[in-house]
Amino acid sequence: MKPFTFGVFVVAAALCVANVFAADEPASTKDSKDEEGVKIYKRLIPADVLRDFPGMCFASTRCATIEPGKSWDLAPFCGRSTCVVSESNPAQLLELVEDCGPLPLANDKCKLDTDKTNKTAPFPYCCPKFTCEPGVKLEYPEIKPSDASEEKKN
Ligand SMILES: *[C@@H]1O[C@H](CO)[C@@H](O)[C@H](O)[C@H]1NC(C)=O
Repeated sequence: MKPFTFGVFVVAAALCVANVFAADEPASTKDSKDEEGVKIYKRLIPADVLRDFPGMCFASTRCATIEPGKSWDLAPFCGRSTCVVSESNPAQLLELVEDCGPLPLANDKCKLDTDKTNKTAPFPYCCPKFTCEPGVKLEYPEIKPSDASEEKKN
């Protein structure tokens, strides 16, 4: 490996961990949609782009570049991202992050269903599933849609 190539790789690898946690910041929390009974939260964040790979999103969890329109799994985290070209500024790449959303508020009458929850399954099947005593419903924390996003959902 040439020293230059190696340097890029090290920087990219170091960014991996930091970026995964940065991606947890809800830039804009989108509506939740059900897929197989699982709530899916979507948000758009500016994509990571490597100087040497313009026009591609950098997938920090995989240390790979992804073409616009393609998705990747965020394993070991439960989520999925898609590389998208910004509608308002086609020179900008965005990352559409989908995840399971916030955990429900603690409730003695509900517990994590360890039989149904498969953390190693691909998103959204890795999302936690809870079972409650009859008549009990889980409550989810309020999410303020802080609309920092410049793209509206179609
Ligand atoms: C969990 O999901 C993985 C990947 O789809 C699968 O290989 C595995 O068998 C599943 N485990 C259970 C307990 O369902």
